[in-house]
Amino acid sequence: MKRILLLGIILTFIFSSSCKKSPVSTIPVPISPIVIPPVVSNKKLIEVANFKIGAAVKVASLQSDAEFANTVKSEFNQITAEYEMKMNFIWTADNTYDFSKVDYLVDFAQQNSKSVHGHTLLWYQSFPDWLKNAGYDTVAFEGKVKTYIQTVVGRYKGKIVSWDVANEIFNDDGTLRVESQIQGRFKDPIGFVGRCFKYAHDADPAAKLFYNDYNVVLATGKRTAMKNMALRFKNAGVQIDGLGEQFHYRISTSQSQINSGFADLANSGLLIHISEADCKVNVNDSPAYVITDADKQKQSDFFKNIVTLYNALPANQKFAITTWGVTDKSTWLRNSTNGNKEYPLLFDESYIKKPAYAGFLAGLQ
Ligand code: G3I
Repeated sequence: MKRILLLGIILTFIFSSSCKKSPVSTIPVPISPIVIPPVVSNKKLIEVANFKIGAAVKVASLQSDAEFANTVKSEFNQITAEYEMKMNFIWTADNTYDFSKVDYLVDFAQQNSKSVHGHTLLWYQSFPDWLKNAGYDTVAFEGKVKTYIQTVVGRYKGKIVSWDVANEIFNDDGTLRVESQIQGRFKDPIGFVGRCFKYAHDADPAAKLFYNDYNVVLATGKRTAMKNMALRFKNAGVQIDGLGEQFHYRISTSQSQINSGFADLANSGLLIHISEADCKVNVNDSPAYVITDADKQKQSDFFKNIVTLYNALPANQKFAITTWGVTDKSTWLRNSTNGNKEYPLLFDESYIKKPAYAGFLAGLQ
C-alpha cells in the first residue's frame, strides 16, 4: 500500500512539474539564415580565376583526339606547345624552318580565343644537331641564333603574347649548367642570354618575356641566380617581364618549403608563371603502384595550396598557371620505369575531373 502511495506522489510531482510553463520569451528570437556556400563544383577554373589557366598541348592530340581538343577548348584559355615550338622541331636546317605544327597551334588558339605562350627559344636540350655540328665560332653562332629568334618571334608577332626566351640555364646551387652550347661557348653566358631577350623584344615589343626553370621554390641558389639575372637585365635596359617556375612536384614535396620559396620568388616583383604544374603521386616510380584515395586527396591539397599561394599575388604579378598536359593519359611522366603508372594532372584518362581539379578550384575561392 505504502509503495502505491509513494509512486502516486512521485507521478504527481513529475506530471505537475512538466506542466509548468517554463518562462518563455514573448519576443521571437530571429534565427540568422544558414549561409549555404555557393556550389562551386560546376564552376570551371577559367570562370573563377583572374589569371590565365594554361595547358601544355601536343599538336598531334589537338589534330586527332577530339576529347583532348574539346577539353582544351572548354577548360583552358591559354596553351603552350609541349615540344613543337622548340628550336630542334622548327629549325630543321640553316635558313630552313618547319612552322607547320606551330601554325596549326596558333590557328587553333585564334579560332578558340586562347592565348599562346611560346616555349622555348633557348634550351640546351633543343639546339638542333646541324647547328651544334656546324662548327660556327661564337660570333657566327650568335648571329644564327639571332636570326632564328627574329624569324620565329617576328612570324607570330601579336599572335604569341609571351615567350620563354630561355629555359633551365642554372643548376640548383645557382651556378651555370655545364653544357656545350651556351655555357661552353660564351665567356659571359648570361650576357648572351640577355642579348637573346633583346632580339626577342625587338622582334615583338608587346610580347611578355620570361626566364623559365624548375625546382625554383626549393632551390635557394637557383632562385637567387634567377633574381640576380633579372636585376642585371633590368639595370642594363633589357626587357624581362617574368619568371617561370615549372612546379614539377609531388605529393611528398614539403608545402612549407614551397610556401617560403614562393614568397621569395614573388619578392622579385616580376610576373610569376607557374609554367608546367603537375604533381606526381607514384613517388617511388613503382610499376606496381595503385592510386589510393589518400594520394588523390594529397594531390588535391597540393593544387589547392599552390593555387592559394598564386591567387594571393598582387594583380600586377599574376600571369598564368599552366599544367604540363591535359590528361593523365598523355603525361610526360608516364614511362617504362613506372609502367605508365602516373596520374599527375587535373583530368584522368577519360577526361573526368579529378579531386585535383576540385583542389585547384578551392584554391581560387
Ligand atoms: O610523338 C612524336 C613522334 O610522332 C615523332 O616521330 C618524334 C620525332 O622525334 O617525336 C615524338 O615526340 C616526342 C614527344 O616528346 C612526345 O610527347 C619528342 O620526340 C620528344 O622530344 C618530346 O619530349 C618533350 C621534351 O620536353 C623534350 O622536348 C616532352 O614531350 C615534354 O614534356 C618535355 O617538356 C619539358 C619542358 O620543355 C621543359 N621542362 C621540363 C619538361 C619535361 O621534360
